[in-house]
Amino acid sequence: MNIVLFGKPGAGKGTQAPRLAERLGVATLATGDVLRAAVQAGTALGREAKGYMDRGALVPDAVILGIVREALAAPGYARGAILDGVVRTVPQAEGMRGVMAGLGRRIDAVLDFDVANDEIVRRLSSRLVCAACQTPYMTGKVGDPCPKCGGVLVRRKDDEPEAIRHRLEVFEAQTAPVFEWYRAAGTPVATVDATGPVDEVTARALKALGR
Ligand code: AP5
Repeated sequence: MNIVLFGKPGAGKGTQAPRLAERLGVATLATGDVLRAAVQAGTALGREAKGYMDRGALVPDAVILGIVREALAAPGYARGAILDGVVRTVPQAEGMRGVMAGLGRRIDAVLDFDVANDEIVRRLSSRLVCAACQTPYMTGKVGDPCPKCGGVLVRRKDDEPEAIRHRLEVFEAQTAPVFEWYRAAGTPVATVDATGPVDEVTARALKALGR
């Protein structure tokens, strides 16, 4: 089963992806996490991506499709994937169709996590993430140990107010049309209320997938 998690920055895709993956018995692929790890490691990919990411712009489609093509061919994704942060543009949706067809797979559903902009701004301006395992938190302070793995909690550069504003504009201009693209292509799509307790959002998402 291959599911695209769709939604504004801060809608809760990264929070829900591992929960859904565990329930569905598949692996997660979060392009943002792959890119942040590359930036941290100082690889060529990281050096290319950093400027785009810091200002809240999208990394070029060809780079993203290269990451996804390589990752999904690995044995860990043989049973499917929860795709967190990809697909984000119509050219990515078109490219993904080819990537999945090449693997004899397809996108089975798209879940749109729906959250109003004021709640998005509230979430992102209070979010801290573990520099090691990327788990997001709404409590704690920079430098605290991650309750999950002991890594250090940090604030993402793209969670500064100017970058948050830009990411929301980019979502409306470049990412929002992707949902309609999938609907028109006949892929099952569902909008999930992504506010309220995290467990309830997971339950709504599973229900939308018929689980
Ligand atoms: P990426 O890491 O994918 O960032 P994003 O989509 O902007 O999403 P976020 O990680 O900010 O939010 P989220 O929806 O995962 O929410 P979270 O669960 O953390 O991408 C970063 C950058 O990489 C992009 O800007 C771009 O430059 C590049 N990139 C990545 N993929 C790309 C692609 N395909 N194409 C081009 N460029 C790409 O939750 C947010 C906060 O809310 C957390 O603190 C969480 O604890 C809290 N929270 C979650 N659920 C709830 C709830 N129900 N109630 C209250 N709080 C909640």
